[in-house]
Formats: sequence, structure tokens, C-alpha cells
Amino acid sequence: MIKSKVEKAINEQINAELYSGYLYLSMSAYFEDQNLPGFAHWMALQAKEEFEHAMKFYNFVFERGGRVTLAAIDAPPSEWKSPIDVFENAYKHEVKVTGLIHDLVALSRSEKDVATENFLMWYVDEQVEEEAHADAIVQKLKRIKESSGGMFMLDRELGGRE
Ligand code: FEO
Repeated sequence: MIKSKVEKAINEQINAELYSGYLYLSMSAYFEDQNLPGFAHWMALQAKEEFEHAMKFYNFVFERGGRVTLAAIDAPPSEWKSPIDVFENAYKHEVKVTGLIHDLVALSRSEKDVATENFLMWYVDEQVEEEAHADAIVQKLKRIKESSGGMFMLDRELGGRE
């Protein structure tokens, strides 16, 4: 049986993951509007992953005999200055999410909830990848400095994400 403190914190994390999905979907919509279909595709897949992260927590709460209660999801921004601004914000967002996951690990340790702590290790590893992927695209965008040829190539590359 999950402790109520841990249950509450995971419910908050479900909201944070859904917000991440909402944020990346908004970023995808921005790229659609900018005629960058590959960037839009990459972000739409990122949004889908976030909804999966939320569902993984959702199912875990039930497995542990807890209760999921869904709260309102904040509206994400819809405008950014440039593609690099989008990815810098995505990277910053992932760093923030990593902090939330680490806080959850600390809470499950202090509550002696070994099952939750063990479950969270998947997210700890996932966050390392999430930060690295967003940062790699920021670095590529810095190198090409939005030259039209470079942007075209990167759009094609990001459009190939499966
Ligand atoms: Fe669910 Fe991008 O972390």
C-alpha cells in the first residue's frame, strides 16, 4: 500500500508529465506554423513520450493500491522567438523535471518506500537521455545559426525520429 505523502507527490508528478506533453505539443504546433515539419514531428513524438511517462505513473499508483486524482493542467506558452529558443526552453524544462524526479526519490527514501524508489530509477535514467537529446539539438542549432541550408538538413534529420 502506498503512503499518502508518496501518493500525493506522484499525483503531482502525473500533472507535471501531462504538462510536459502539453508543452511539447504546443512547441510542435509552433513548428508546424513555422513550416518546419521535421521539428514539429520530433516535438509531437516528444509529447507522446510525456503522456506515456504520465501513464506509467498512473498505472503504478493503482498497482500500489493508491488513488489517482487529476488536477487542471496549466496552459503552455504558444510563442517562442526562434527554433533555438524553443529547444533552450525544452532543455531547461527537462532540467526542472529531473529535479522533480530526484525530489521524488528523496521522498521515497525518507518514507522508506523501496518499491517506489526502485520504480523511479527508470525515470532517473530517462531524464539523463531527455536532457542530452534536447541539449544536442540546442548545440546543432547554435552551429548552423539558422542558415537556411542547415535548417533544412536539421529539419530532415529530426523528421526521421521514430
Ligand atoms: Fe517525462 Fe521529459 O520527462
